[in-house]
Amino acid sequence: MSIDLVVVGLGYVGLPLAQAACGAGLSVRGYDLHAGLVAGLNSGVSHVDDLSDDDIAVMLAAGFQATTDDAVLAQAETIVICVPTPLSPEGGPDLGAVLGATRAIAKHLHRGQLIILESTTYPGTTDEDVRPILEAGGLLAGGDFSLAFSPERIDPGNPVYGMVNTPKVVGGHTPACTDRAAAFYGRFVKTVVRARGTREAEMAKLIENTYRHINIALVNEMAQFCKPLGIDVWDAISAAASKPFGFQAFFPGPGVGGHCIPIDPNYLSHRVKTLLGQPFRFVELAQEINAGMPAYVKRRVQDLLNEQGKSLKGARVLLLGVTYKPDIADQRESPVRPLARQLLASGAHVIFHDPYVQHWNIDNEHGRPAATDRVLERELEPVSAAASADIVVLLMAHRGYDLDAIAKASKQVLDTRGKLQAANVERL
Ligand SMILES: NC(=O)c1ccc[n+]([C@@H]2O[C@H](COP(=O)([O-])OP(=O)(O)OC[C@H]3O[C@@H](n4cnc5c(N)ncnc54)[C@H](O)[C@@H]3O)[C@@H](O)[C@H]2O)c1
Repeated sequence: MSIDLVVVGLGYVGLPLAQAACGAGLSVRGYDLHAGLVAGLNSGVSHVDDLSDDDIAVMLAAGFQATTDDAVLAQAETIVICVPTPLSPEGGPDLGAVLGATRAIAKHLHRGQLIILESTTYPGTTDEDVRPILEAGGLLAGGDFSLAFSPERIDPGNPVYGMVNTPKVVGGHTPACTDRAAAFYGRFVKTVVRARGTREAEMAKLIENTYRHINIALVNEMAQFCKPLGIDVWDAISAAASKPFGFQAFFPGPGVGGHCIPIDPNYLSHRVKTLLGQPFRFVELAQEINAGMPAYVKRRVQDLLNEQGKSLKGARVLLLGVTYKPDIADQRESPVRPLARQLLASGAHVIFHDPYVQHWNIDNEHGRPAATDRVLERELEPVSAAASADIVVLLMAHRGYDLDAIAKASKQVLDTRGKLQAANVERL
C-alpha cells in the first residue's frame, strides 16, 4: 500500500480533506467519477469556494493527483468516502453514490485497509449498507480491514473553523476500528472525539443538522407573527442572546439552503418512519415552516408594493444575493430559486445581482440545464440596479455589498436578513 490516503469524491468535503492531509505530509490521491473535474484539478483549477487555484498548486506540488481510475483504490492505506447523499425524487435517501463508491472500493479491497464513510446519512448506513458490500468478497470488517464513520463538519466560507481545528467525531465498527480511524485523523486534525460506534457517529451529524433546521424554523415562524404584533424579531433575538448560558441565537431568513440543512433531517425522519412507522414530528414541522418562507417573502413583497399603489404584476423586483450562504458561490437548494419562480408566476419582472453568480438558472441547479430553463444575467452593478427597481429584496448580505448605498438608492427594500434600518426598509 503505497498511498496514505485516497479520497473518493472531490467536492466541497473531499477536496478540503485531501488538502489537510497533503498539508500534514500524507501521500494523497483523489478518485472521482467526474472526468472534467479530475482534469481541472490536475491542471491546477479549483471548483470549490474554500480552495484557490494556488491551494491546488500546493497540493499538486506535494504529490496530489486526481483520477477517474478506481485502480488507485488498491494502493491506499486509508480510503475516505465523501460522495453526495441527495434525496430521491420521492424525498427519501438516495444512497446511489455511496453504494457505487463502496462497490468500487470492494473491487480492490484487501487486508489491512481502513475504510471511512464521511457522507452524511441515516444511522445504520455504515453497518447495514456499506459493510455487506465490502465483506461480500470474504474479508471481514474489524478483522481483515477496518471500517468507521466520521461525519464531516465543513462550513464553507467559515474563516475561523476549517478541517484542522474543528473537532472530528469518529465511530468504528469495533473499538479497534475507532482507534485506527482516530489515529488517522489525529495526523491532521487537532481534536478527535470518539463515539461509541458507527451509528452514534452517524446520528451525531443528524442531531447537529436537525437542531439547526428546527431552530431556524422556530425563528422563521416567530418572524411571521412578530411583524403583525409590531415586534422587531431581530432586536428581540439579539436581546435574548445577551444571556450568557442556555441560549444560542438563530435568525430568520427567506428559507434554508445548502447541501445539509434542507436535506439531512429527511434522512433521519425517513429512517424513523421506515423502521418504526412513526413520524419525526419536529422535523416535519420545521420542513413545512422553512419550505414556506419563500411564499411568505413573496407575500411581503406584494404587500409592500400594494402600499405604494403598485401591483406585483409588472413590478421590477431586484433579488440581491442568490446563494445559500454569504460570501460563497454555492447555490444548492437556495430558497431564492422558489421565490423567483413564484414572483415570475405572478407576473413580476425579476432581476438579480450576486457578486458570485454571473448567470443564474432559476429552474435547474442539478445536472445539465435544459433549453427551456429560465436563465437570468446578473445586473451590472447593485446600486444602479437597486435604483432601477420598484422593490429590492435583500436575500443574502454578502460582505462586498455596500448595503447603506443600496438602501439609499432604492425606492423600497424588504430586508430578509435584518441588516438595514431606514425609512424605506422593512425587515422580514
Ligand atoms: N458541502 C457541505 O458543506 C457539507 C458539509 C457537511 C457534510 N456534507 C456531506 O458530505 C457529502 C459530500 O458532499 P459535498 O458537498 O462534498 O458533495 P459534492 O457534490 O461537492 O462532491 C461530491 C463529489 O463526489 C463525486 N462522486 C459522486 N459519485 C461518486 C462515485 N460513485 N465515486 C466517486 N466519486 C463520486 C462527484 O463527482 C463530486 O465531485 C454529502 O453526504 C454531504 O451531505 C457536505
